[in-house]
Amino acid sequence: MEIKILNSYKELSLKVAGEVMNLVRNKPDSVLCFPAGHTPMGLYEILVEKSNKHEVDFSGCSFIGLDEWLGIDESDPGSCKHFMVEFLFGALGIKPGQIHFFNAMATDPDQECLRINAIVKHLGGIDLMILGIGMNGHLGLNEPGVDPALYAHITGLDPVTRRVGQKYFSKETSLTKGITLGIRQIMESKQVILMANGVKKAEIVKQILAGEISSQIPASFVRKHANAVFYMDQEAAHQ
Ligand code: PGA
Repeated sequence: MEIKILNSYKELSLKVAGEVMNLVRNKPDSVLCFPAGHTPMGLYEILVEKSNKHEVDFSGCSFIGLDEWLGIDESDPGSCKHFMVEFLFGALGIKPGQIHFFNAMATDPDQECLRINAIVKHLGGIDLMILGIGMNGHLGLNEPGVDPALYAHITGLDPVTRRVGQKYFSKETSLTKGITLGIRQIMESKQVILMANGVKKAEIVKQILAGEISSQIPASFVRKHANAVFYMDQEAAHQ
């Protein structure tokens, strides 16, 4: 994994947008997996602007959902799917058939994991996985202690994730379990981009990079990926 430090959040967002556009221009039918969360919002704004100017065309791409709060319907503004439709898919005019998201209301969530695993496989794997990092070092909802051999799975949520996740909801919401692609799918992605910005991420960035590669800090596994770049701004890099 390479590390690239940019001067500002704007530069970080522009740099990652450039990577996305390069890929999609070279491979218009790319399979993309992008996260919900505050980290990529600047990136999404740029991608929407570039798409509106016809500088990039996502109409041939497929989008895989990274994760979802189990039991939260996609109509809930706090759901990951709702976030992605609001800030990216809707503005890009992505058609429902291009989007493959976990149904967090599925009666058999394990079966739902197998459904998504099969779609990723059928599409030939993920070309580009972009990930924010949690305050506890999680990726998607691969929580501290995760088994890195897992593909999509159901997980109990770490107390940090339960607390931080409240920021997406207008009222206190019980978040106990998640459904997520696994570390295995992250490691099998052809290209991985980690993103971190802001001083609040500095401590966990240090732990991801300086400590042992371990399940306790799920993002540390990406250090072993041969085609991964960790983009961060100066604030996130300052420790
Ligand atoms: P954030 O979330 O981008 O809002 O910081 C990242 C995460 O929790 O994975």
